[in-house]
Amino acid sequence: MAIWIYRRCFAMSELLRLEGISKAFPAPDGSLVHILSGLDLSLGEGEVVSIVGRSGSGKSTLLSIAALLLSPDSGRILYGGRDASSLSAKEVSSLRSLSMGFIFQSSVLLEDFSALENAAMPLLIQGRSRRESFSVAERLLEKVGLSERIGYRPRQLSGGERQRVAIARALSSSPAVVFADEPTGSLDERSAADIETLMLDAVRSEGRGMIIVTHDRDLALRADRMLLLSEGRLFDEGI
Ligand SMILES: Nc1ncnc2c1ncn2[C@@H]1O[C@H](COP(=O)(O)OP(=O)(O)OP(=O)(O)O)[C@@H](O)[C@H]1O
Ligand SMILES: [Mg+2]
Repeated sequence: MAIWIYRRCFAMSELLRLEGISKAFPAPDGSLVHILSGLDLSLGEGEVVSIVGRSGSGKSTLLSIAALLLSPDSGRILYGGRDASSLSAKEVSSLRSLSMGFIFQSSVLLEDFSALENAAMPLLIQGRSRRESFSVAERLLEKVGLSERIGYRPRQLSGGERQRVAIARALSSSPAVVFADEPTGSLDERSAADIETLMLDAVRSEGRGMIIVTHDRDLALRADRMLLLSEGRLFDEGI
């Protein structure tokens, strides 16, 4: 079943499409605050889209909706042309574990597991062998500059090192779509640039797609399209 969903959802060149997405949150005084207002977005194979916008404009909310972690009030989310609302909970969870990679603003690692185990977790969850999972994870940890930290637990790592483990974890299962929210915000300029190159190459070379939310204009400009989220809608900023 899982393989069927994967093929069915990613046999087309458009990976993801959001149509007319709206979302409002209740404010403490009970009024509704409209964050997203009829927003559209599409993501093609091998495409990297960056989303910029002021703090509080709704970027993380948008990413959570696209990743099916939060329901919109209205609008449709299509994965490979298939409306996500027609998928069962089990299909959504297969889609997430097989086809999506996540790097969040403050990524959470499993505290009782080593950097290597954390990075290998998506593959282990998919049922791949320990040998294969650890070998892929080790290679990625090397690429993000953590080959000497693979046995460390998250609490023994710095903030930037934890974020690099999260990046290795997001890429380890070669997901069709990577969602990244300020992926390199906690890194120094040089490490950030190297890791951005790694992420972008990994996505582009294999026809995958990536949505990057960032305040870093240099990173935003490395995408294929840069979009500005403002007043609940996306505007093409050109590159
Ligand atoms: N669960 C919630 N309940 C009420 N309001 C919320 C909730 N989640 C987000 N918001 C509001 O929605 C707005 C958008 O939040 P979001 O986290 O998407 O912003 P952002 O663009 O990612 O900001 P930043 O750049 O600071 O990360 C904020 O004003 C926030 O207060
Ligand atoms: Mg945010």
